[in-house]
Amino acid sequence: MSARLEAEHLHKVFGRRPDQAVERLRAGADREELRADGTTAAVIDASFSVAPGQIFVVMGLSGSGKSTLLRMLNGLLEPTAGRVLFDGQDLTALTDRELRQVRAHKISMVFQHFALFPHRSVRENAAYGLEVQGVPRAEREARAGEALALCGLAGWEDSWPDELSGGMQQRVGLARALATDADLLLMDESFSALDPLIRRDMQDQLLELQKSLKKTIVFITHDLNEAMRLGDRIAVMRDGRIVQTGTAEDILLRPANDYVASFIQDVDRSRVLTASAVMDTGVDGHEADCDCETATPDTPFTDLCALSARLTHPVAVLDAADAVVGVVPQERLVAFLGGEAATEPEQVTTRA
Ligand SMILES: Nc1ncnc2c1ncn2[C@@H]1O[C@H](COP(=O)(O)OP(=O)(O)O)[C@@H](O)[C@H]1O
Ligand SMILES: [Mg+2]
Repeated sequence: MSARLEAEHLHKVFGRRPDQAVERLRAGADREELRADGTTAAVIDASFSVAPGQIFVVMGLSGSGKSTLLRMLNGLLEPTAGRVLFDGQDLTALTDRELRQVRAHKISMVFQHFALFPHRSVRENAAYGLEVQGVPRAEREARAGEALALCGLAGWEDSWPDELSGGMQQRVGLARALATDADLLLMDESFSALDPLIRRDMQDQLLELQKSLKKTIVFITHDLNEAMRLGDRIAVMRDGRIVQTGTAEDILLRPANDYVASFIQDVDRSRVLTASAVMDTGVDGHEADCDCETATPDTPFTDLCALSARLTHPVAVLDAADAVVGVVPQERLVAFLGGEAATEPEQVTTRA
């Protein structure tokens, strides 16, 4: 139950003569030049593809064009140039009526401030998308109930929205999106208004749900830590352009430019990296049956630090067939923590 989504050279220009503005952008004009004419290039030449079942995160500061990009993905905004392909179907070529059908049945949105209907029960709120689809009451209530249970709200079906905390209201928003069985979930800063702890809960819950649901998800955030926790792949936007697309590790270890590098300073590396990123693969002659501690390629960095702190020899990294694919010497862990930690090994253990 998931879809492939592709964006091809998407542009969105607000203001006068947008087509002309796109021509100028293609000829090398930048956003500021256009702004001088009162024209806003909100999204410039955005291309990416999201594989079925992946979480694709778009990360960027406020004003970088994230919401505009998202609204083109579900056809709420018509691109000035470029195409959106949804399972190979060109959304930009559909009639309004066809587009409404796709939006109602195949795509769900979850916003930052989820507008729940105050005079409808939690169940009715969660069933709203199904109501729009014309699903009969009994069926939509049953499906809404299942979605609420998935989102940890079993028992709250008959409550009113104002009886729920902000975090729980946001869960109703998520349940509403899940209840429709849409293949594609578009989430615009869905967790940004939540307190940090509740936000972490929601991130965990989404990852947990995703293990079984395997939806195709585009998740927007201005927070790189959130991007790295959630994203199978991440696109970093700046001033309307995607400046880098890659995995969390790609972005952390190989930032495309100084701009991206400036963001990753605030990221907790130990959360993102796994053994495969930090191991030394020149392991000739290493014995699989040595008495060293072992890890797998996806052992989290923090666990490696904990292992390594107890050891005098490197951690061996084994693949599924128990063959040694790498070793992680303690110095490597220290080096990957970067900055001061590189000269103060004790910090490895305290951070882990
Ligand atoms: N309907 C609109 N008309 C004119 N300018 C807009 C419109 N929507 C967005 N913009 C402008 O496009 C740029 C990108 O906005 P937006 O996509 O909302 O960014 P983000 O979601 O990353 O904060 C901003 O400069 C914003 O002011
Ligand atoms: Mg936005």
